[in-house]
Amino acid sequence: MKLLITGSNGFVAGSVITHAQDHWEVHGIARSALPVDHGNVHYHLLDLLDSEKLTELFHKIKPDVVIHAAAIANIDFCEKNKSIAEEINVGVTKTIAQLCKEADIKMIHCSTDTVFDGTKGFYTEADFTNPINYYAETKVRSEQIVLSSAAKNIVARLALVMGLLSREKGNSFLFDLIEKLKNNEQVKFAENEIRTPIDVITLGASLVELADNNFAGIIHLAGNTRIDRFNMAKQIAVDMKFPAELIISTNSNSIPDRAPRPNDASMDNSKAKQILKTPMRSLHEGLALIMNRKKENSL
Ligand SMILES: NC(=O)c1ccc[n+]([C@@H]2O[C@H](COP(=O)([O-])OP(=O)(O)OC[C@H]3O[C@@H](n4cnc5c(N)ncnc54)[C@H](OP(=O)(O)O)[C@@H]3O)[C@@H](O)[C@H]2O)c1
Repeated sequence: MKLLITGSNGFVAGSVITHAQDHWEVHGIARSALPVDHGNVHYHLLDLLDSEKLTELFHKIKPDVVIHAAAIANIDFCEKNKSIAEEINVGVTKTIAQLCKEADIKMIHCSTDTVFDGTKGFYTEADFTNPINYYAETKVRSEQIVLSSAAKNIVARLALVMGLLSREKGNSFLFDLIEKLKNNEQVKFAENEIRTPIDVITLGASLVELADNNFAGIIHLAGNTRIDRFNMAKQIAVDMKFPAELIISTNSNSIPDRAPRPNDASMDNSKAKQILKTPMRSLHEGLALIMNRKKENSL
């Protein structure tokens, strides 16, 4: 079975590839600095905006499943660069959904907890979306495209993802936090933003499991701990033996020049617990898993 993953140099895709490589022939698409092919993993250099080359690649690989993890995931960048965010987060998703539909390929699309406005919290898959920034708007529209394109498609809404990077680049708050704490720098975290963080290892395993089962529709991939970002960062600092005083509380909605964030975007993971064999984990369990994996890899 062949798995095609977009955004293969990214944070989430790195973990998907690690989990998939023993059971799938994996094809990763990245637009810069390709890693060397290894075992069952093959990389392809491509800007996803080049739909002609993307179509050619689809026809050449003939994947059984596509996990679409590429996106512009920086919320403030999307707010200031709406046309780029639109082209990549919506336009590219549309192209991929069409290619999947034509060849009857199952598509798993990575979306986000920020599709919600954050006024309710502990959102289920049945709750209405109401985006409050442009990134979230693009994600809501891309979700609709994927779900209306084929009945077997999946929209996986990811909570805040916690983990280390398997490549040198990527969207990891934990990596940035540890770098600052190592330098004894103070770090500000929003106390108004409540989330249900998921570790990237559990997330990668869950996405690969979804590639291989019969689930279709929307699923929330979130951890078991509902916590604000400030207290989350404090717990991480304590668990990692850094001084907790280095973590400073802030209100993200009072920072000028920043796109609005939902206050409480926590998600209910009951459906994931019901559907998946991969266990959803608490903040402590997820962090322990990440640090143990790091130790094993450095041995
Ligand atoms: N990390 C989180 O906490 C989180 C939470 C909720 C949802 N998500 C969603 O999960 C998915 C994966 O996020 P992530 O954290 O892994 O983000 P990431 O580390 O920024 O990875 C995204 C990847 O997409 C690639 N990409 C963007 N535009 C491209 C294009 N035109 N052609 C080819 N590749 C392109 C980027 O390549 P370049 O490096 O070359 O730009 C990057 O490697 C995204 O859909 C994101 O919205 C993430």
